[in-house]
Amino acid sequence: MTAINDVRIIDLPKFTDPRGNLSFVEQMNHIPFGIRRTYWIYDVPGGEARGGHAFRQNQEFIIALSGAFDVIVDDGKQKKTFTLNRSYYGLYIPAGLWRKMTNFSTNSLALEFGSIHYDRNDYIEEYEEFLKLKNNEEI
Ligand code: TYD
Repeated sequence: MTAINDVRIIDLPKFTDPRGNLSFVEQMNHIPFGIRRTYWIYDVPGGEARGGHAFRQNQEFIIALSGAFDVIVDDGKQKKTFTLNRSYYGLYIPAGLWRKMTNFSTNSLALEFGSIHYDRNDYIEEYEEFLKLKNNEEI
């Protein structure tokens, strides 16, 4: 069973340098799971939203590599909005939480790490089903 309080911003190493800054992530270190998948969302037209769903197993770590966007996370009882707008921190979202991404700025780039390979069966796509599973303490 996961809840809003399990979602957290994780600060990443940042090497400031007059030549340009550098940050990095390591699995099982800054990212608290083994990375099985990396994808990114880009060229999002103004006003669009992405990712209204939950995962049964997949854990995620999301970084705004460029620009800004909001991630709204919902545990069935409480909702919280996280604004990501720097590349030196990311948002850890455990499995079993509804999440949606909105308010993408122009040229924003969302980098997402997942703990499992792409599997459509891992998606919970209907909010009513999500609430049912949550209420039954199945996720
Ligand atoms: P999806 O996760 O459904 O995005 P959103 O929730 O924002 O609508 O992914 C959109 C499409 O991309 C979907 O048809 C499947 C494909 N896809 C992959 O093939 N592999 C992946 O790792 C991801 C995240 C998506």
